Amino acid sequence: MNKKVTVVGAGNVGATLAQRLADRELGDVALIDIIEGMPQGKGLDIMEATPVEGSDARVVGTNDYRDTAASDVVVITAGIARKPGMSRDDLLNTNYKIVKECTENVLKHSPQAILIVVSNPLDAMCQVAYKVSGLPKHRVFGMAGVLDSARMRTFIAMELGVSVENVHASVLGGHGDTMVPLPRYSTVAGVPITELLPPEKVDAIVKRTANGGAEIVSLLKTGSAYYAPSSSAAEMVDAVLKDKHKVLPCCCYLEGEYGIRGLYVGVPAQLGAKGVEKIWEIKLTGSERSALQQSAAAVKELVDVLKL
Ligand code: NAI
Ligand code: 2OP
Repeated sequence: MNKKVTVVGAGNVGATLAQRLADRELGDVALIDIIEGMPQGKGLDIMEATPVEGSDARVVGTNDYRDTAASDVVVITAGIARKPGMSRDDLLNTNYKIVKECTENVLKHSPQAILIVVSNPLDAMCQVAYKVSGLPKHRVFGMAGVLDSARMRTFIAMELGVSVENVHASVLGGHGDTMVPLPRYSTVAGVPITELLPPEKVDAIVKRTANGGAEIVSLLKTGSAYYAPSSSAAEMVDAVLKDKHKVLPCCCYLEGEYGIRGLYVGVPAQLGAKGVEKIWEIKLTGSERSALQQSAAAVKELVDVLKL
């Protein structure tokens, strides 16, 4: 039997993710949204591409959670997205209600699923899904670090004129203005970028990474990024379904790691069939550690508003 992935929210990120999952034949896909007809139309359109893509994945678009039953992985992308002038945090209350409802609905039909949250503000929405679901922490985590580090990798490759495949980048912390790109742990063919680029170029890459979401929003004007976000979520789904034991930056529930307790924050985590297998605690300098603490404090402020 094929693996099954439900994507909740058939908007820009959700539909593009469904397409990527189907094209890569990672499993059957259920794409669900509250708008009538839209997920059915997009689902059918994606399914009709499978003969050309050489994929036997089955894709169903739906408004009925019964069609999502027995999913192995559920990715929650439902919610409103940023418009110019809005921060991710402006989405807090609206998306809280949406993520709560989607988590409850999806678990009724897929109680064994692993939940990957994408909706913003990401770290707070992971906390919502975790609290509402009552699932163990290793089965609820969020996508942001893969995207933020993909952006950083892109900017490093552009600056040095090398293949993106040579570039590794590391970004910790909350998915917001306080995120913590780590140049010391960002490398080209194993060489830290701090040894390849002057400090002002490194700083510019760090700033552009932290501003990466806003840069796209200001260009699109009608919404936020979705090509790189959907690729990033697909990489996490791939790591789980193929039990890859892959280390990726993920938003995970911390219980003392990095000195942070009771909060979802982005850290390197090893993903496999059970979800988060292990959180990797890497050595940080004093200033990196305090930047991570500040980022966690910003996440906590949002979570406190929700009184979870
Ligand atoms: P979008 O507006 O294109 O799609 C959102 C979809 O959610 C819409 O189709 C809407 O009908 C649906 N929806 C709303 N309430 C729902 C409910 N109760 N049940 C099911 N579906 C519901 O937005 P887009 O661009 O797809 O972004 C989705 C979310 O992902 C936003 O919150 C955005 O900020 C976030 N995001 C997070 C990223 C990350 O790195 N974590 C990256 C990119 C986007
Ligand atoms: C991004 O970083 C909006 O969180 C989304 O593009």
